[in-house]
Amino acid sequence: MNTAAARPKVIVTGRLPEDVERELLVRFDAQLNIDDRPFTARELQQALQSADGLLTTVADRITADVLDVPGRRANIIANYGVGYNHIDVHAAKAQGVTVTNTPDVLTDCTADLAIMLMLMVARRAGEGERLVRAGQWQSWRPTHMIGTRVSGKTLGIIGMGRIAKATARRAQHGLGMNVVFFNRSRLAPEQLEGLDAQQCDSIEDVLAQADFVSLHCPGGEETRHLMNAARFAAMQRHAFLINTARGDVVDEAALVDALNQGLIGGAGLDVYEHEPRVPAALLTMENVVLLPHLGSATRETRTGMGLMAVDNLSAFFAGQTPPNKVA
Ligand code: DGY
Repeated sequence: MNTAAARPKVIVTGRLPEDVERELLVRFDAQLNIDDRPFTARELQQALQSADGLLTTVADRITADVLDVPGRRANIIANYGVGYNHIDVHAAKAQGVTVTNTPDVLTDCTADLAIMLMLMVARRAGEGERLVRAGQWQSWRPTHMIGTRVSGKTLGIIGMGRIAKATARRAQHGLGMNVVFFNRSRLAPEQLEGLDAQQCDSIEDVLAQADFVSLHCPGGEETRHLMNAARFAAMQRHAFLINTARGDVVDEAALVDALNQGLIGGAGLDVYEHEPRVPAALLTMENVVLLPHLGSATRETRTGMGLMAVDNLSAFFAGQTPPNKVA
């Protein structure tokens, strides 16, 4: 019989959609975070000591130090999110802690958001909305708020994974865009899943051609500051940077300089180097669209992510390999 005492104890570090919390309470002895208060490093350690598993979010920094807590009881961290660069997976592996993620369910919504940022920044949507809300719109004028056409332009993608392909499909089939991309490994034509996209040999080749540069590589040491001063200088002066991947892929100080110097046309950002902090300089720039990490933020996707994390926990506690094990 499934008694509360016999069920694995799971500590959840963030408020989750209702259906997910309900399922957690059915399957586990779950401690929810109803107040949605972020966990400190110490609280994460205490959770590792007192629960069988943790369900964490991309806002939790699970470092080697956090994992190295004496008397750790938890052997699984089920991450709510596809990206896991906030978890030291090498340390987790070394400590025998399983880590899982939630791929696929957020692909379409994140790709939608990348396209939205591209359209918003090119067509000055944020700026226009601010003007209307401020009661400053005077009249329709032929030269008022002229933006940049998106249809038919070239989209340059860095990192051709699932979300990148979904973004490229929307750009190509919806907006008639030409797609060029850089990916660390060479992709065979069938891996492009019907996309007509040209793989470039270097990031610089992409930057030289793209009217929009969209980042889709994972975060972490290998990609940290991949977009730096030299690479901003290599972009076309009218081109826009779109980032729905991870904040640390962009050297934010170099981005601010490039925008100040007019080296690029603008930026559409959903992620930041030191979330939730956003550089003050960006807040005053009209040619920058700033969103608070909303890529996966739809009811459908956030519920899907949660149920996936719950299934990963269930599989682990049943002695199986969780379907989305990353470490
Ligand atoms: C992820 O899943 O990695 C996103 O950044 C949050 O949904």
